[in-house]
Amino acid sequence: MNRVEGHVKVTGLATYAAEYPIEGVVYAYPVQSLIARGRVARVDASDALAMPGVLAVLSVADPPELAEDADAELALFQRREVAYRGQLVAAAVAGTYDEARAAADAVRVEYEPADHDVSLRADHPGLYRPEVVNPNLPADTGQGDVEAGLAEAVTTVDVTYTTPVLHNNAMEPHASLALWDAEGRLLVYDSTQGATTDRDMIAKTLGLPPGRVRVVSRHVGGGFGSKGTTRPQAVLAALAARAVGRPVKVALTRQQMFDVTGYRTPTIQRLRLGADGEGRLTALEHVALSQSSTLKEFAEQTATPTRVMYAAPALRTAHRLVRLDVATPSWMRAPGDCPGMYALESAMDELACAAGIDPIELRVRNEPEVDPDTGLPFSSRNLVACLREGARRFGWDRRDPRPGVRREGEWLVGTGVAASTYPAKRRPCKAVARVLDGGFLVQVAAADIGTGARTALTRIAAETLGVAPDRVHVEIGDSDLPDAPVAGGSMGTASWGSAVVRACEELKKDGREGRADTTEEIRQDSRLTRQAFGAQFAEVRVSSVTGEVRVPRLLGVFAAGRIVDAKLARSQLIGGMTMGLGMALMEETLTDEEFGGFLRRDLAQYHVPVCADVPDVEAVWLEEHDERLNPMGAKGIGEIGIVGTAAAIGNAVHHATGHRVRELPITPPKILMARF
Ligand code: MOS
Repeated sequence: MNRVEGHVKVTGLATYAAEYPIEGVVYAYPVQSLIARGRVARVDASDALAMPGVLAVLSVADPPELAEDADAELALFQRREVAYRGQLVAAAVAGTYDEARAAADAVRVEYEPADHDVSLRADHPGLYRPEVVNPNLPADTGQGDVEAGLAEAVTTVDVTYTTPVLHNNAMEPHASLALWDAEGRLLVYDSTQGATTDRDMIAKTLGLPPGRVRVVSRHVGGGFGSKGTTRPQAVLAALAARAVGRPVKVALTRQQMFDVTGYRTPTIQRLRLGADGEGRLTALEHVALSQSSTLKEFAEQTATPTRVMYAAPALRTAHRLVRLDVATPSWMRAPGDCPGMYALESAMDELACAAGIDPIELRVRNEPEVDPDTGLPFSSRNLVACLREGARRFGWDRRDPRPGVRREGEWLVGTGVAASTYPAKRRPCKAVARVLDGGFLVQVAAADIGTGARTALTRIAAETLGVAPDRVHVEIGDSDLPDAPVAGGSMGTASWGSAVVRACEELKKDGREGRADTTEEIRQDSRLTRQAFGAQFAEVRVSSVTGEVRVPRLLGVFAAGRIVDAKLARSQLIGGMTMGLGMALMEETLTDEEFGGFLRRDLAQYHVPVCADVPDVEAVWLEEHDERLNPMGAKGIGEIGIVGTAAAIGNAVHHATGHRVRELPITPPKILMARF
């Protein structure tokens, strides 16, 4: 299907959070901490308040009233302590955006700085084992004896990979527009991945019952996780609007987004693998280090994909975390699984090379019968089929396994493969369907963050009702609609779709209206491991002169249950793969060790792939029938596309050059270090 809102989007009529024309709106602009740790000693707002159009200055000098148990990243201006450089310490409110910005510049903040530490290191004394890692998984797992498995192995690999800080960089910057009515009800137009959860979090932060808050978010220009939780600009808009008695808009700049809208934690990951003479794993160990802030614990689940991937008699995963003077890391597309699979799938390639076994064959030989971690059966697992189909399409059988032997002029040429996986879950959701004007209206507080969710739900509803899609109108993006979980964790379509199917089934029985709540249905789901799988293939050309890496060809083959709509799915998957290419070769936010915060804060310095970087990205999928997921039989596809891509490219770079870069991104200097 074409996107149902495609026309309003391309004609500029789709309204994003910052664009609602509201009578009497004024603007708030943040003041950010210039130190990474310490205290705000004094705030002098007198100059700012004397400037034209200025209505108020909010700051830690006069903490606005907020709930005592507010999330530490959202508890604006409550404490004088500074936890990271770029944290909001004040804000100016004025009649225009430019007046607010000028006034924010004129707010004088004096600090009592303290020494800071913003660097994740493998030998950091503050590393500890968190109780659990996201979303609520054991930090460590283990079975068998890893040391014994390594001792008996014929081939071993002991390698450490690092991934840098990455930023989500959605196209639409975070923005919020807040209005209080005379009865003390708050309306927020917000750029969010979930109106229901955003409403609840804003209400909790302000100490309001959820019924007093409404979030409207009809169109969202991407999020990749950064809009999966409420961000400070929404709270700032609400506080400023309350303070000045006018509607207030806060539109973050790209630079501000780097500081306060989350990022992917850097990782240091050590992999130890042992294999017998046939390439069967005797031991597999994955230890992942990552960071969080002093404000709260965010423990990324980096090593969790290793728990489900391969059969090994000794299998250990562990996570360690250190709290630094940094902003709290957050969700970024396939959080954990993406950097974790980069390391695991790079290490599997190193093992294949060391053992002299084809990397596809190595993976096939280590295919588990059941989930190696829990012993549960997989609802469906078609990794081998993806690898085989990808090999056929990619022409893998013509590959010479020797690294560093194909040269075309200055260019070294190579190919690589990696496996991909991502959990396929769903969360409770409500929906309503009713007959309306000869058609059907379906309501659910889902979010379309550019994925095509509105369109997919239209198709799901139409198929359930047995009518043409143009007779179905799906309304989403408003917390006044039936409660729904976020667009996140590749669970959107599965969660909202389940509720839409049930509501439409009820409508068919009732003739007029159907309501659904999938809480009970999901509680009764059988205990199974539900994962999507895929295989990523990359061809690279590496310049021996400049060290640049070109990717003329990427192929992803996925097994993700039933694909609801081919056009939407292809767009999601090639988007994920393109983001994976960025992770492999370009994306990196440098931390400023001297002053704290980040050194790269815009898209001139934080490079993402453009069309010229991805001449040929192909995503295909296998027919997969899995009845034990949800009524659609669909697994999520928002995140699996990015998983494994960076490993496939890194493995291809090794195949091209014979040189293994273990620190992402694979930039020209790291290639040139190898000296061809
Ligand atoms: Mo996705 S990072 O779970 O929004």
